[in-house]
Amino acid sequence: MKRQYRRWIRLLSVIAITLTLGWTIDSGLVGPPLAGLQAQEKSGVTVPPNKALLRVLLPKDAQLEIGGEKTQSTGEERLFLTPELEPGKSYFYVLKVINPNGFRQVRMRAVEFQAGQEVVVDLRPGKDTESSNIIFVPTSEEVVLKMLEVAKVTKDDIVYDLGCGDGRIVVMAAKKFGARGVGVDIDPDRVQEANEKVRKEGVEKLVEIRLGDALKVHDLHRATVVTLYMLPEFNEKVRPILERELKPGARVVAHDFQVPQWKPDAVVTVTEQGGFRDHIIYLYIIRPAEKPGSK
Ligand SMILES: C[S@@+](CC[C@H](N)C(=O)[O-])C[C@H]1O[C@@H](n2cnc3c(N)ncnc32)[C@H](O)[C@@H]1O
Repeated sequence: MKRQYRRWIRLLSVIAITLTLGWTIDSGLVGPPLAGLQAQEKSGVTVPPNKALLRVLLPKDAQLEIGGEKTQSTGEERLFLTPELEPGKSYFYVLKVINPNGFRQVRMRAVEFQAGQEVVVDLRPGKDTESSNIIFVPTSEEVVLKMLEVAKVTKDDIVYDLGCGDGRIVVMAAKKFGARGVGVDIDPDRVQEANEKVRKEGVEKLVEIRLGDALKVHDLHRATVVTLYMLPEFNEKVRPILERELKPGARVVAHDFQVPQWKPDAVVTVTEQGGFRDHIIYLYIIRPAEKPGSK
């Protein structure tokens, strides 16, 4: 009898753990409030069980912003203790590093952590392979319209713009075609602008803007249309994610930069009036994955 009782307890604990993990992943990551993030002196920092410690490595004269706020500390190693965190829950901050002298000076990275963890974030040139240096260059309204037309967006679509900038693509998809949309951007300033645009254009019911890494979107399988105006290195990284997550029939529309290794279903050139160059739109339609031996 006692053994049976213990077995039930074990089973219930497994169910509880599974549900907790599922909830954390499905609900996405949340940034803890910035108030209370403390810069630490280097010596003798231990991580309390209810906080996390970020150890950031970067060029000594680089500026560092965390969660959209400038930090004051300097040097090649900078330590920050988070505010109190809920145990077992995942959080993230976006770190922006601005290198004073150099090509591609601004890099951004979303860093995940949980209570009790020490996370080393290496943002030194040559060491850092995860941060993004893709800055905001907006697609013109004319090209946005063409991208949505090429994808044949309707009110039944859910458009995800990965790296949404000021949100113009998802806002136009909602306003002009009645589509739902999700815009994801890693830069807190862009997310603020995009949210303002969503409110100004009155499409709050259709469009959601999220802060985060567009390579870690937890519900991309919902997308029927994905739009991209990102550099080839991002498109290379996102390709296997799109192949895994998108359903057959979903469309991917890329502005100017192709998705490596994919063959476009259509290529459209837009010549803007008064523009100084042509813009190219690549359309890809997701097909059922070919099973080995199906040919
Ligand atoms: C070239 S802009 C395109 C903006 C918008 N999609 C458009 O076409 O007007 C690229 C945007 O991607 C954002 N970005 C860069 N890397 C990112 C990443 N890993 N995750 C999310 N956003 C990212 C940048 O902050 C920037 O706003």
